[in-house]
Amino acid sequence: MCGIFGFTGWKDAAPILLKGLSRLEYRGYDSAGICMISKNRDLYINKAIGKVMELKNKINLSSLSEYTTGIGHTRWATHGGVTENNCHPHTSANGRFAVVHNGIIENYSELRTMLQWQGYQFYGETDTEVAAKLFEHLFMGDDFETLKKLTTVIEWAYALVFLDKENPGKLFGAKIGSPLVIGIGRDSWYVSSDYRSLIGLVDEYITLEDGDLFCIENNDYKVVNCGVELVRDKESITETEKHMELGDFPHFMLKEIYEQGEVLRNVFAGRIDFQAKTIRNNTLDEVVTQGFERVHIIASGTSYHAGLLGKQYLEHLADIPTEVTVSTEFKYGKQFIDKKTLYIFVSQSGETADSLESMKIVNERGGYTFGIVNVPGSSIARLAKAGLFTHAWVEVGVASTKAFTAQVATFLVIALAFGRKWNLEHMKFLSIIEDMQKIPVRIEKLLETSDKIREVAEKYASYLNFFYLGRSYELPIAMEGSLKLKELTYRHSEAYSSGELKHGSLALIDEYFPSIIINGSSPLHSKNCSSVQEVKSRGGKMIGIITSDDTKKDIYDDYLTFEASLPETEVFLEVIILQLFAYHMANTLGRDIDKPRNLAKSVTVE
Ligand code: M6R
Repeated sequence: MCGIFGFTGWKDAAPILLKGLSRLEYRGYDSAGICMISKNRDLYINKAIGKVMELKNKINLSSLSEYTTGIGHTRWATHGGVTENNCHPHTSANGRFAVVHNGIIENYSELRTMLQWQGYQFYGETDTEVAAKLFEHLFMGDDFETLKKLTTVIEWAYALVFLDKENPGKLFGAKIGSPLVIGIGRDSWYVSSDYRSLIGLVDEYITLEDGDLFCIENNDYKVVNCGVELVRDKESITETEKHMELGDFPHFMLKEIYEQGEVLRNVFAGRIDFQAKTIRNNTLDEVVTQGFERVHIIASGTSYHAGLLGKQYLEHLADIPTEVTVSTEFKYGKQFIDKKTLYIFVSQSGETADSLESMKIVNERGGYTFGIVNVPGSSIARLAKAGLFTHAWVEVGVASTKAFTAQVATFLVIALAFGRKWNLEHMKFLSIIEDMQKIPVRIEKLLETSDKIREVAEKYASYLNFFYLGRSYELPIAMEGSLKLKELTYRHSEAYSSGELKHGSLALIDEYFPSIIINGSSPLHSKNCSSVQEVKSRGGKMIGIITSDDTKKDIYDDYLTFEASLPETEVFLEVIILQLFAYHMANTLGRDIDKPRNLAKSVTVE
């Protein structure tokens, strides 16, 4: 995690660094800092605990017009507490070099001891300060040669960007494991953890690969890997600043919830021909003819929940046995990699370390890897043998919303592609395609009921514990709804198969422990109704997420409704109700919605 941003050029660095850091804040917001160098070789450092706004408040921009090169950092603490001493940028003992870092230097403890023996003193506890002091220790007069030496000593993961007080205008660094791009502007150069922070600043950028070292100086740059200077392809930025801005919304999360109808149109475009009622996509054509007999989905968090829905689709619509594993468990578990299995990696950021490392294992052992990724150019997108982008645009809110629905929609398209090729009955295929076309409009209609959802959320905001219940397609929705509640409201919640509750956890139910059941037009509707009765007869309160034509509304204490369709497509509406429920409750409780405590959006450390 952590976001790093660098600039060198002819403009004032400070406002650019602050803008870049605000855009990278989703990667961590425990503290922020900048270090800049003036043409006269003066160094300016400022750091603040908390968000980038705290740092902004400490900086007097009018006094900094001489500073045109700088590096900045927004931190998600891994090594060392959230203190100003541990804030990046970190400096060498002689004050000549400064560095920002994203990742974990695994052997920092040995290196720190070695440096202490050499007489270096440390002001903080971070692995990054070790890199700064080590750089000074290895320095023999040439920045780039020292960087080369440094990267043979430190153990990754890292993206590092340095500046040297004696070389104003110069930025240099290296990356393994953590993302880093170079933005190429007119006489101005940017370095960032995420190309999207460069939207509106440059039109082109290059993505650095693992093992790359770079140096920007004299209005030019070079990239070296394994001692060889090479040219990385330039990529264009297609998004506009509109995608990075709140507009009239109070929070990015709400904006992103409201974008979901449009996002699903994007997901289907170029894949589904609604006129001809068929799927048209070269990637899918290629994958379905590979003869895969099984699918293994690997992902974390919300993306894992999308994977669980993917399993439901692939098994029900395409008859393909599908396994889903949380990426942390995959990497350290026993892996059986074979050629008959399609390995699907799901990730909004495309940078989640646990998923990325798992993907590398499958690639190394000859498995066919397929990415479902939102961020083009991200590591998972680049390493996958094939894949589909989710086209959800930038997702800024730490709590994933539109990325989830886009992932689920992508799975539905994949399952239909496999199903049509193999076993799916044609009428069923057609009815789902027809229904899919209506989802965006249904979503937009559902969003008009947000006030009703808010009322129910406010009513339950004082409860401390919740169960989220569902079965079959609706169990992953319950799990996702429960995760949204936890991360946004800091209330405890657990998701269960509604049938499983009676095997122990029902003991927790009393009048202070409400449950939310997702009970649309599923074939298990009446079984779910029995679970409602089991909870109610123990004094538990029950909120139903049900269709507007459900005839059993009176069994619930409260209910929220959506338009009935097919179980395969109702999930989109159900999850949006749960997203809004968590959003409104968090708002009622005064939580920091876009940046919940302790979290970061992109988890690039294991
Ligand atoms: O970028 P990814 O989809 O790989 O991230 C995985 C999880 O960290 C992520 O889905 C997380 O659970 C959500 N931000 C929660 O809303």
